[in-house]
Amino acid sequence: MLYSPIMTGTRPIQNLALIGFMGTGKSSVGRLVAQLLHFTYLDTDQVVEFRAHKSIGEIFQQDGEPAFRHWEQVIVEELTQRKKTVISTGGGLPVNQANLDSLKTHALVVCLWACADTIYERVRDHDHRPLIDEVDPLGKIRQLLSIREPYYRQADVLVNTERRSVREVAVQVIHQFHMAHAAHR
Ligand code: S3P
Repeated sequence: MLYSPIMTGTRPIQNLALIGFMGTGKSSVGRLVAQLLHFTYLDTDQVVEFRAHKSIGEIFQQDGEPAFRHWEQVIVEELTQRKKTVISTGGGLPVNQANLDSLKTHALVVCLWACADTIYERVRDHDHRPLIDEVDPLGKIRQLLSIREPYYRQADVLVNTERRSVREVAVQVIHQFHMAHAAHR
C-alpha cells in the first residue's frame, strides 16, 4: 500500500473526500466507507445528474464539458458546511485547483490510485464515461492520467487500489481517517 504522510496541519477534518481517476473505485469504496463510519454518502456525479435532470453523457453531449465542470464547482462550493459525509468525486474534479483547495478546508482528501492498464481493464466494458469513449481509450487514459497526476498527488493520502478488494481499500481509508481525525481533536 502506498501512503504519503498525513499533512493536514490544523485544519478541521469533518468529512472524507475521495478523489482519483475513473475506475479507481471511488464510488464502491466510498459507499462502504460511509456505511462503516455511519456517515452520509454523497457522489458529486449523482448530484450533478440530479440537478441537471440529465445524465453526464447527455450533459457532455448537449452542453459540453465546461458546463459539466461548472456544475461540479458549484456543488463543491456547497459542501463546505457538511459534516460526517463521505464525498466521492468525479475523476476530473480535482483538476480545478479551486475544487481541491475547497475540499481540503473541511475534508481529509484521499486519492485512490491505479495504473492506466488496470483502469482500462476496469472501465473497458462501461459505456457511461464520455471522456474515454474514444478509438484508443487506453491512450486517452494514459494521457489524462499524466495530466491529472500532479493534482491527485496533492491529496493528503494516496492509497493504491491495485490487487486489493473494495473492502481492503475501505479499511485502509478508514484507518487513515481515524489517524487524521485523532491528530486534530
Ligand atoms: C470524469 C469522470 C467521471 C465523470 C465524468 C468525467 C473525468 O466520474 O465525472 O464522466 O473527467 O474523469 P468517475 O471518475 O466517477 O467515473
